[in-house]
Amino acid sequence: MQGVILHGGQGTRLRPLTHTGPKQLIKIAGKPVSQWVLEQLRDSGIHDIIIILGDNNPNKVVEYYGDGSSFGVNITYVYQGKARGLADAVYKVKDLITDDKFLVYLGDNIVPYDRFPSFLSFKGSASILLAKVDNPNRFGVAVIKDGKVVKLVEKPKEKISDLALVGVYAFTKEIFDVIENLKPSWRGELEITDAIQGLIDRGREVDYRIIDGWWKDTGTPKDILEANSFLLDRYAERKIEGEVRESSVDGRVVIEEGALVENSTIRGPAFIGKGSKIVNSYIGPFTSIGDNCEVKNSEIEYSVILDNVKVDGVSMMDSLIGNNSSVVKGKRWVKLIIGENSRVEI
Ligand code: DAU
Repeated sequence: MQGVILHGGQGTRLRPLTHTGPKQLIKIAGKPVSQWVLEQLRDSGIHDIIIILGDNNPNKVVEYYGDGSSFGVNITYVYQGKARGLADAVYKVKDLITDDKFLVYLGDNIVPYDRFPSFLSFKGSASILLAKVDNPNRFGVAVIKDGKVVKLVEKPKEKISDLALVGVYAFTKEIFDVIENLKPSWRGELEITDAIQGLIDRGREVDYRIIDGWWKDTGTPKDILEANSFLLDRYAERKIEGEVRESSVDGRVVIEEGALVENSTIRGPAFIGKGSKIVNSYIGPFTSIGDNCEVKNSEIEYSVILDNVKVDGVSMMDSLIGNNSSVVKGKRWVKLIIGENSRVEI
């Protein structure tokens, strides 16, 4: 059984975090988003993984995952390059698919769904996962009539359905024929939603499942904070491998190897990455601190701090701080060096 993870795209809404690498490698609750995806596939028995690479530092993805053996899977890489749309990306695996059915998972989505094998035994030519949303115009949506998928529209301007396509799809090889005849959408992309509509136009059946509850497309900073809180809440278990001195560590807190917590309070669920130092500080619930960070004299809550970050003398919440950044209290004036499209609230 093969699983295809999409790892390309532009990541525009997450700039400047995505200036140096793909959005799917942003670490949430201790792991890149795409690693949550990959491990979810592996844990449900899918070990043959194809990763589709884009043109934003694809080497970083290959360096991180290698041949997949350290993650318990076999990985084949396919280069898409420029983001020409999800259907263009899927078409790139045409010659690599060995079974009749295969699974496609968008590498920036977190979908708590573990019935992939049963999802692959669908009726007809494809199957889609759907979820009810309040803002259907941000997604592809499906119209269901008498238990059948009758129409799909990408980012609908008018409300025709509140059932959004969640980023997991199952296909037969028939999808490749449709993509060969697909025209780019108004946004200049070959849309997978249009390709599935193409199957319906050819009289083929498209199966569906509706999932209940939380799922996330981690396309914006707010989404990343929500995904972090969900993943910590659901998966964090108390594991203290680092050193704790004169501190109080309450609840489900992960403190990884080589980390030091001194004269501080940590309230779970929270994650402190390898080699990080937390001194004279408070780390509150739903916070992930990356590897090799230094947090001194600060309070941080409901935030994601990526790797090699320095924080000193600052109280922050609802914050997302990129790799190798410093957030330090100045003496009187605020001094800022901020990348494009950033947001600062003081
Ligand atoms: O999140 C679910 C939504 O994902 C669906 O409801 C939509 O129907 C679907 O089109 C998609 O919409 P987005 O606008 O959110 O797609 P985005 O451009 O963010 O790309 C989704 C993932 O696929 C992301 O991990 C990047 C990757 N990608 C994207 C494009 C356009 C590629 O690998 N190659 C591409 O060419």
